[in-house]
Amino acid sequence: SQKVLLDVDPGCDDAVMLAMALAAPDIDVVGLTTVAGNTTVDNTTRNALAILELLDAADVPVARGAGQPIVGELDTAEEIHGPNGIRGDLPDPSTEPVDQHAVDFTIDRARELGDDLTILAVGPMTNLATALVKEPDLPSLVDDIYLMGGSASGIGNKTATAEANFHNDAVAAKRVVRSARPRMVGLDATNRATVPLDDLDELLSSPPPLDAFGAWLDYPEEVRQFGEGSDPAVHDAAVVAHVLDDVLAFEPAHLDVEVGEGPFHGAVACDRRDEVGKEPNAEVAVDIDVEGFRALVDRTIERLRG
Ligand code: BDR
Ligand code: CA
Repeated sequence: SQKVLLDVDPGCDDAVMLAMALAAPDIDVVGLTTVAGNTTVDNTTRNALAILELLDAADVPVARGAGQPIVGELDTAEEIHGPNGIRGDLPDPSTEPVDQHAVDFTIDRARELGDDLTILAVGPMTNLATALVKEPDLPSLVDDIYLMGGSASGIGNKTATAEANFHNDAVAAKRVVRSARPRMVGLDATNRATVPLDDLDELLSSPPPLDAFGAWLDYPEEVRQFGEGSDPAVHDAAVVAHVLDDVLAFEPAHLDVEVGEGPFHGAVACDRRDEVGKEPNAEVAVDIDVEGFRALVDRTIERLRG
């Protein structure tokens, strides 16, 4: 089975991703690291522990990480994800995070598991960037590093040009795209990672944990604008769906991230045609098998149904 370390800021789509990973027999979640993003790191850590407990996975270790971007102020999104950063009324967890910072936890797991480990970072890239500063060999130790973040097309969701995770810590995103040889899964693919809501009422009135899974999909109308029809995009879930079933198509590209304080803060400069004469430093997701993605979400729902 594939060992994964998930760097998260739950966050409703983070929670959907966690449920998909935990329900899949062929994925072994070796730990979660938390970061400030959709909400504060106090909340993302509490939410991560609560989600694990809800999903009968309280034995998965959680390492608390960065509470601020490297440069700039944290800009949270509770209006999208719900009070304290998540919908679904999760009871307070009875467990605690491990006694190690997310950055050290990541480096230790990478050294110990080597190329058996894949890292999926689906919040602001602060922990991963800091881990790269501390252990520059990180990318060659592990198998793959996937990022949910950025937008190769130049169309953002947080601003006109920037995706939220990259906008929230543009300096971290810049270091990660420049030195992690990542597979970037940006809005180009994830805006299409939508789930039809035909069964939403049934989910919401089901016993736990299905009611919470329904609440995680139940985004406010204003943020459903990118989906086909009015279906919400569950960005982070697209990454784990690819690890499970190759639903994304990638192309090599040269990436950089704009960190200036203007209207392009956090935007990606993506060159897929060798326009700048630089070797590709990343792979970029350019397409998603939407039906394949939805089949994996359906399978998760069936497994949660028990
Ligand atoms: C990304 O931003 C966060 O709000 C979501 O959890 C996702 O990781 C989408 O732009
Ligand atoms: Ca996220």
